[in-house]
Amino acid sequence: MIKRVLSGIRATGRLHLGNYLGAVKGMLELQNDPGYETLFMVADIHTITTPFNIDELRKNRREVITDYLAAGLNPEKSIIFLQSEVSEHIELAFYFSSVTTIARMQHLPTYKDKVKQHPGHNTMALLNYPVLMAADILIYKASLVPVGIDQEPHLEVTREIARKMNQQYGTDFPEPVRFATKGEYIPSLKGEGKMSKSVEGSYINMTDDLDTIKIKLSKVPTDSGKEGGPIPKIGGVRSLYELYKLFAPEKFDEDFTKPYESGLIRYQSLKNHLAEITYKELKPIQEKRKKLETDIAFVDNVIKEGAEKARTIASKTVNEVRQKMGLL
Ligand code: ADP
Ligand code: TRP
Repeated sequence: MIKRVLSGIRATGRLHLGNYLGAVKGMLELQNDPGYETLFMVADIHTITTPFNIDELRKNRREVITDYLAAGLNPEKSIIFLQSEVSEHIELAFYFSSVTTIARMQHLPTYKDKVKQHPGHNTMALLNYPVLMAADILIYKASLVPVGIDQEPHLEVTREIARKMNQQYGTDFPEPVRFATKGEYIPSLKGEGKMSKSVEGSYINMTDDLDTIKIKLSKVPTDSGKEGGPIPKIGGVRSLYELYKLFAPEKFDEDFTKPYESGLIRYQSLKNHLAEITYKELKPIQEKRKKLETDIAFVDNVIKEGAEKARTIASKTVNEVRQKMGLL
């Protein structure tokens, strides 16, 4: 049987390099493998689990679709859609919530982090975040999910829900696993934590021009460069290390390891070179994006057709579940 793949990104803004390297690159790899049927959505309902602005949300849903298409997701190969247009996800999430304890949800590190970030906004929707994500994946019986490593706790919950549903109601949900890319964890440009939209100064946007990338990289904190010895796997040096390794693997030893070990590394020129090779990869994506921005009818059509195709699969699963649970 052909394997299904599903992934999504919340509609919180333009995509950054962490999203691209940790998630979108995995989506592209699987889309272009004929062994898989791929579905990629914008998780716009997940976006309302933390405080949001209505106009921004409306705009960002489309921005993420446009970023997907610009990066190479192809509506002829993948089903590309908005989560909110397939309301069956919400229905299935409610059924799933009947096999999920509150305690399990409250102990998730992702939940605790979000409550810390938004202390006045500890809502039912936020607590239900992983249950809705499980529904997103299992409604298509997807077994492979290209996401960054930070999403692993949510996949664990998805597998638990699949197991419980199968045991209690005789459904046939798979236990999905994460599809990891080489960039499954891109560190922040600030040298602490991961690159993230919610931390100003931590990220490079996929739409940044060369000068902006140069300025951002020039601010990455480093050591003196004269230390020598093994490269430290912490702080800004690690961030540069991870990015350099991904963008220039063949020159990594020559440009990074050897100069570092001998205490001769010159960060300024290394950063400039990193900016150039990063931009080189982003430039064609940015050019394609510019064209897509003016092709409103094309993007509208992708969204419309994607929803129709997704709905056909989703409604079938929901009907099966209703039947098995005695609701039909
Ligand atoms: P953010 O943390 O910036 O809000 P999201 O939570 O919307 O990003 O993540 C969208 C996708 O991008 C997920 O698959 C996530 O794992 C991946 N991702 C986000 N940040 C990174 C990162 N720094 N490194 C690798 N993958 C990442
Ligand atoms: N939780 C994911 C994130 O923050 C977004 C998401 C929602 C998702 N539903 C999904 C990812 C289903 C993969 C599959 O990035």
